[in-house]
Amino acid sequence: MNSKDIVYVNGAFVPRSEARVSVEDRGFVFGDGVYEVLRAINGRLFASKFHNERLKRSLDGVRISLTGNDSPEHLTEIGRQLLRENDLLQGEAMVYMQVTRGSATRAHNFPPPNVPPTVYVSVVRFIPYTELAQSGAAAISHPDLRWGRCDLKTLNLLPNVLASQAAKERGAFEAMLIRDGVVTEGAKTNFFGVVDGSLRTHPCDNHILPGITRSVLRDLAREVSIDLEETPIRADEIPRLSELFLTGTTTDVMPVVKLDDKPVGKGMPGELTRKLQRVLAESLASGD
Ligand code: PDD
Repeated sequence: MNSKDIVYVNGAFVPRSEARVSVEDRGFVFGDGVYEVLRAINGRLFASKFHNERLKRSLDGVRISLTGNDSPEHLTEIGRQLLRENDLLQGEAMVYMQVTRGSATRAHNFPPPNVPPTVYVSVVRFIPYTELAQSGAAAISHPDLRWGRCDLKTLNLLPNVLASQAAKERGAFEAMLIRDGVVTEGAKTNFFGVVDGSLRTHPCDNHILPGITRSVLRDLAREVSIDLEETPIRADEIPRLSELFLTGTTTDVMPVVKLDDKPVGKGMPGELTRKLQRVLAESLASGD
């Protein structure tokens, strides 16, 4: 917890312990909302433009409209203000932004248009997984039980929650989700793998979240002349993986050295993984 711990909810800056939303909030009742997670380094929000674009896309995708002067950019500004209010302008922090379809008597269809969305922004101190990023992490494979619009960053995370818990119970950091014989992404990360010498990642379609870290890394790979194929990796290709790593706002580049209790490649972070880990770290330290 931050020393002050102020959050933003529906137009007000309040202590987290006093922040309130209705029990009839559609986020609570239906998971009817969208969210974003951004990384703040010394008060600077990494890739905020891309996060704003994705939030807008998620809002449009589920047909939630922000009201008045509200916009993804405004929420990002509130995130910056919260970093100041909570003395988080030094070091690492995480900004969480959530918009739900508001609060109304329970009915599956949308509430009347005059019901405003619920807007929540929060910041917390973040501690990167520095040691695990050196040694590499374990992962498990798990069925991808999610819906057909995984490209929208919605609050409907129950399949992700169950997969994450299954990973935790097996001592693993992440669950690699498998749909129709293809590895789509992690429960909270995208992934890249090297098969027969080629670096591959799942293409952006409705089966994966278009991760901001994924797209930043794709551009960085190009800059350092690493070829990347946006071609799915099939589950039956897993034994041929020589390198595997996860990407995400709170994960950076995380090597996976063990999958389903079997070593990936030599059982230690591979060369391409290390290189891309370095270029992303440089970009995080300098870019915006
Ligand atoms: N998760 N895929 C899924 C299903 C995710 O939930 C996330 C991010 C990613 C990586 O996206 P990005 O690089 O934009 O963080 C991929 C966030 C961090 C979360 O839910 O906390």
